[in-house]
Amino acid sequence: MRILITGGAGFLGSHLCDRLIEAGHDLICLDNLFTGRRQNVGHLLNHPRFEFIRHDIIDPFKFEVDQIYNLACPASPPHYQYNPIKTTKTSVVGAINCLGLAKRLKARVFQASTSEVYGDPSVHPQPESYWGNVNPIGRRSCYDEGKRCAETLFFDYHRENKVDIRVVRIFNTYGPRMHPNDGRVVSNFIVQALKGEDITVYGDGSQTRSFCYVDDLIEGFIRLMNQTETVGPVNIGNPGEFTMLELAELVLKKVGGTSKIVHRDLPADDPKQRRPDISLAQKHLGWEPKVPLEEGIERTIAYFKSEI
Ligand SMILES: NC(=O)c1ccc[n+]([C@@H]2O[C@H](COP(=O)([O-])OP(=O)(O)OC[C@H]3O[C@@H](n4cnc5c(N)ncnc54)[C@H](O)[C@@H]3O)[C@@H](O)[C@H]2O)c1
Repeated sequence: MRILITGGAGFLGSHLCDRLIEAGHDLICLDNLFTGRRQNVGHLLNHPRFEFIRHDIIDPFKFEVDQIYNLACPASPPHYQYNPIKTTKTSVVGAINCLGLAKRLKARVFQASTSEVYGDPSVHPQPESYWGNVNPIGRRSCYDEGKRCAETLFFDYHRENKVDIRVVRIFNTYGPRMHPNDGRVVSNFIVQALKGEDITVYGDGSQTRSFCYVDDLIEGFIRLMNQTETVGPVNIGNPGEFTMLELAELVLKKVGGTSKIVHRDLPADDPKQRRPDISLAQKHLGWEPKVPLEEGIERTIAYFKSEI
């Protein structure tokens, strides 16, 4: 197949490119390199079935493809809050552009949505049927509401125009090629530990997150895209739940060194708990994560060691 991946030079997008090239597909990787890096797909640039196009998803585009994966959107708070209006436009106008193209081509189109659509959840763990608890006017809203609106557009194009959609809700994912300065907790802790700096834990560190290793996530993407039982939304993430203090201690143990754990104020609207209910993914995709946190953290530390 010919496949378009928007945001293909980003952390997740570049791993998806690897998997789809391995499977024998022809890829168009579209990215404006806002948070993505050319080096993430550097090894593919001369591949005969890979084409990189620097383009902003907000501006219209036309390609002849069979499938579209829409991943373009800054994903970490410092990046999506850098230009919040642009973030909302990327999610909303980007979704409209992908859906318009999919409608014209009768191509299947995949939306990388997020667990942030659940906001600071009052239901735990979060099933797809939970509508969320999102602040519409806060610092995180450009991302959360942009992604919620993109989901609305996907389902309206599906109902009104029979566009063949797939929607995944991604929970925290980590692994090689994360941006070292993206401000996400796994990369923050590892980079701080490798540099021998203090490890900064927000609040008392009792807030929990679940962490999915990137290879597991990409397997879930491909399964969701290529089955016909459900259009989603489907949660993909690792239900193992860890406190920020546990994560900091694990990173310290694996890196060694002399870093100390220090505490800082909690950022606004920081969710206290986040854990996916993955029953739908198990039922429809036969998917569940395989890589344990310790192993994934070791592989990620090895990557950052070579980067720093
Ligand atoms: N990594 C996670 O834990 C996670 C969790 C939930 C959702 N997601 C979603 O998955 C997708 C990929 O996330 P990631 O972690 O790889 O982040 P990332 O920042 O590494 O990747 C996003 C990519 O999109 C590109 N991009 C941003 N704005 C664009 C625009 N206007 N036009 C074209 N390209 C643009 C960036 O340059 C980058 O390459 C995002 O949509 C994100 O919201 C990720």
